[in-house]
Amino acid sequence: MTRRGCDTIPSTSPDRTLAERIAALKEERDAVIFAHNYQIPAVQEVADHVGDSLELARAAAKNDADVIVFAGVDFMAETAAILAPAKTVLLPAADACCPMAEMVTAGEVRVLRERFPDAAVVAYVNTSAAVKAESDICCTSANAVAVVESLDAEQVIFLPDRNLGRYVARFTDKEILPWDGYCIVHDRMTAGEVTAARRAHPEAEVLVHPECRPEVIDLADHVFSTSGMVRHACASPGREFIIGTEVGLLHQLEKTCPGKVFHPLSNRAVCINMKKTDLAKVLAALERLDPRVTVPEETAVRARIAIQRMLDLPQEIRNP
Ligand code: 13P
Ligand code: SF4
Repeated sequence: MTRRGCDTIPSTSPDRTLAERIAALKEERDAVIFAHNYQIPAVQEVADHVGDSLELARAAAKNDADVIVFAGVDFMAETAAILAPAKTVLLPAADACCPMAEMVTAGEVRVLRERFPDAAVVAYVNTSAAVKAESDICCTSANAVAVVESLDAEQVIFLPDRNLGRYVARFTDKEILPWDGYCIVHDRMTAGEVTAARRAHPEAEVLVHPECRPEVIDLADHVFSTSGMVRHACASPGREFIIGTEVGLLHQLEKTCPGKVFHPLSNRAVCINMKKTDLAKVLAALERLDPRVTVPEETAVRARIAIQRMLDLPQEIRNP
């Protein structure tokens, strides 16, 4: 009730107004919004699908909307453009890139192939379309072990994440030749942070991402992709969790597993590129149908083979 004739503040928040405009324009454009688990909460909330790299690639492959707005980083939007070449793929933050994906080039893959002619080449999806085009098959953090095990070759060049490559090597007899790339967010997490977090929260389970260093993985209870962490936390009888990945995942964890408590392993675990997308940029992208991501057809044709081989593996196959 308003007393003494005080002025009231309009009840609609700016985020809500933007979200409503996005919803209306999405209809008009026949658009769908995909958001990675690391996006800011407001962006996750306007998305039709929120997920890990594998889930979003699968969603792009079977999408039938005319426009895909990809709230994520460039390689994710490129993957969607490769899988859905007839659709308009928008990356609202045109400069949202992945430093790890830029740590290996197509030319470097060609040199590796000459040096190790019998090796198969596995490209993490966190690579450019040009690198995927030089590779035999793609993988994500959710299925890297299964992808490597599916190959006939006994020697595997693994690009570009050295930590994910070493993680895979724990579960296969194949020889893994990891490239020396790394995620600038996960590679910073330390064993000391795990020890300190366990001391502060002795009842909590420790879940870490396979992009973490081996000594961090050694101290964890479980290793999962981002959506794997959400599934595990909901299913686990545990009530408290230490989360060793980018802090954006806490929104999905808290939303999907109400009543459970989540502590970030490190407050420094923030991917600045994943935070470049906001509601204003999503709205502007829908209004202008720009920034648009396209992949030259000669590259897309070859990259699609590597991505599709991964998607053709049974969906239930996930890392141990
Ligand atoms: P996932 O969500 O596939 O586990 O990947 C994490 C990541 O770093 C994406 O950039
Ligand atoms: Fe790249 Fe790491 Fe950011 Fe993922 S979290 S986009 S791998 S820098």
